[in-house]
Amino acid sequence: MDYAATGQEAIARIVAATDLETLEALRVEFLGKQGSISGLLKTLGKLDPEARKVEGPKIQGLREEVSNALTARKDALESAALEARLAAETVDLSLPAPEAPRGSVHPIAQVMDELAEIFADMGFAVASGPEIEDDWHNFTALNMPESHPARAMHDTFYFPDRDEAGREMLLRTHTSPVQMRTMLAQGAPLRIIAPGRVYRSDSDATHTPMFHQVEGLVIDKDVHLGHLKWTLETFLKAFFEREDIVLRLRPSYFPFTEPSIEVDIGYTLINGKRVVGGDPSKGEGGWMEVLGSGMVNRRVVEFGGLDPEQWQGFAFGIGVDRLAMLKYGMDDLRAFFDGDHRWLNHYGFSALDVPTLSGGVGTPA
Ligand code: PHE
Repeated sequence: MDYAATGQEAIARIVAATDLETLEALRVEFLGKQGSISGLLKTLGKLDPEARKVEGPKIQGLREEVSNALTARKDALESAALEARLAAETVDLSLPAPEAPRGSVHPIAQVMDELAEIFADMGFAVASGPEIEDDWHNFTALNMPESHPARAMHDTFYFPDRDEAGREMLLRTHTSPVQMRTMLAQGAPLRIIAPGRVYRSDSDATHTPMFHQVEGLVIDKDVHLGHLKWTLETFLKAFFEREDIVLRLRPSYFPFTEPSIEVDIGYTLINGKRVVGGDPSKGEGGWMEVLGSGMVNRRVVEFGGLDPEQWQGFAFGIGVDRLAMLKYGMDDLRAFFDGDHRWLNHYGFSALDVPTLSGGVGTPA
């Protein structure tokens, strides 16, 4: 048998292969179990020892030659494929950049940042709690036992099932449960705000089933109503960036504060638009309720694991959506949650417009 000719023919076909599949078919044809060269190796067994000594190395040499050719061709084909891919994937840096999609910061998010900035300047840290809350944190520990009539006023979304511990679960109706969670977790003294979403089953032009509040809580020694009033006035002046803010403090009732105070902010009408500032009793305008507050009820201080003889404090809950409407001149709360990009283009903020006290917390760019 002319091994040299067999080898040459095989190698010629290998070198001519232009893709990896053809090459693999050739490998099987020559070196596979039923392959022609494998077949030659099998014939060795039938030869007598002398002949085998002569033929053996020749067939082995042929096998090695073909095997090497296969490997070399495979490498060549693979690197050619890589080259082709790299060439196809080049980026033309001279092309104009595609227009970047432009998003905007929602006014609620912006106002939340403004609030955090203002309160941080007054020494408040930011705390948070779960939106899926249990009945104890949302009501009981805030001095609203099961039979308390104030519970009915909250239009609560309850979950049909209790949790593993058998507790009734609900969507928090206010951010006040964070007061309790923070007292229990951190003790006293405390100075925190807790911004977040709250839920009530209520819906019209001024109420949405989900809305936003910022809770405030200060616990310390010798805290009194004057501290509360100063804090709220200072905050509202910084927020609206006006010194002529007029507040109306009305006695109110919340189970978790005693005494309780609701705060209205005065606005005047300019070209039919509500503008915060000035005294509404001296011209055309009115009052808008923006927050509930009061001195923390001593029962709540006790539920929070603190001694009310030693620790007192004040708390407030601010309606964020209403503040945003007043500050940025929007009149329908529902538009906040429609997700209409035309509205967002108009009222949204640039991501670079970060509220700072020195730059004016909320001056739109
Ligand atoms: N949690 C009250 C509400 O949602 C507001 C509030 C907070 C009142 C803190 C007093 C103190 O209506």
